[in-house]
Amino acid sequence: MAIETVGLVGGGQMGAGIAELAAKAGCKVIVREISAEAVEGAQKRLEGSFGKALSREKIDQAGHDAALANLNYTTDLADLADCDLVVEAVVESPELKHEIFKALDEICTKPDVIFASNTSSIPIASIAVSTTRPENVVGLHFFNPAPVMKLVEVIPSILTSDSVVDTVRTFAADRLGKEPVIAPDRSGFIVNYLLVPYLVQAIRLLGDGHATKEDIDNGMMMGCGHPMGPLALSDMIGLDTIHHVAVAMFEEYKEQIYAPPPLLSRMVEGGLLGRKTGRGIYDYSS
Ligand code: 3HC
Repeated sequence: MAIETVGLVGGGQMGAGIAELAAKAGCKVIVREISAEAVEGAQKRLEGSFGKALSREKIDQAGHDAALANLNYTTDLADLADCDLVVEAVVESPELKHEIFKALDEICTKPDVIFASNTSSIPIASIAVSTTRPENVVGLHFFNPAPVMKLVEVIPSILTSDSVVDTVRTFAADRLGKEPVIAPDRSGFIVNYLLVPYLVQAIRLLGDGHATKEDIDNGMMMGCGHPMGPLALSDMIGLDTIHHVAVAMFEEYKEQIYAPPPLLSRMVEGGLLGRKTGRGIYDYSS
């Protein structure tokens, strides 16, 4: 099955990044956000990132203009009715995801439409059962910043059909230019299963007063060659997302290493979510 029309539910950091990839690949893209203000935010995010790609010569002017022309925005989920692929990229709330997949199942008319979730941690089978077509539901997990990071995790649930897995794997590799890996349907999949305990441990080290944020980040950048330290990376991903993922993984595995440390919980409760709010572990306000 050819994927030509792609719907994005959510135009935040990840949704916009995935929309950028699909628009650049020549697909018609429809980005759905919940309000006119959120649509405006998604549009600004996409135009900003395309502008950066143009200025860094990652795309030429004609490609830039064609990709922007492929982008459509809406606040109405019903506008996703004719999509071949819908990627959900909303916050890590199981209830919200259930609601969205149930609605998409009722709205999307093509029998072989693929419903994908960009969830960071929620098992795909638990989302798939909100639809009457669980064989069409798959995990498609991109990495932040999505236009730049090479990897995509393809996560088949126990209910996903082989043809859906083949279709999304081929689409990710051949159209989006990504390196797909097949990841298991367990909380955190491959990458977050390894990454999130590391990020959480770094926040624990800071919160318990054992080291400064600069020393923790420099330690991992200069000692291990990481492009960013764990605390700066947590701010980039969003502390709310890290918290949601840690909670989901703790729920799944019941191991202390995944439990959100008090500092992380307090910062999320206080609305200090990282770069997107101007303040997280670091201050971005100036
Ligand atoms: N399209 C194409 N290329 C783009 C682009 C766009 N829209 N925007 C930027 N780029 C390119 C730049 O041109 C540059 O390429 P170059 O090296 O060939 O010049 C490259 O991307 C890096 O961009 P910048 O120069 O703006 O930024 P930095 O060099 O400071 O790198 C970074 C920023 C890519 C974020 C780097 O620090 C990094 O790799 N950090 C680690 C990120 C990471 O670990 N992400 C995974 C998070 S986990 C996750 O997402 C899972 C979730 O479920 C939690």
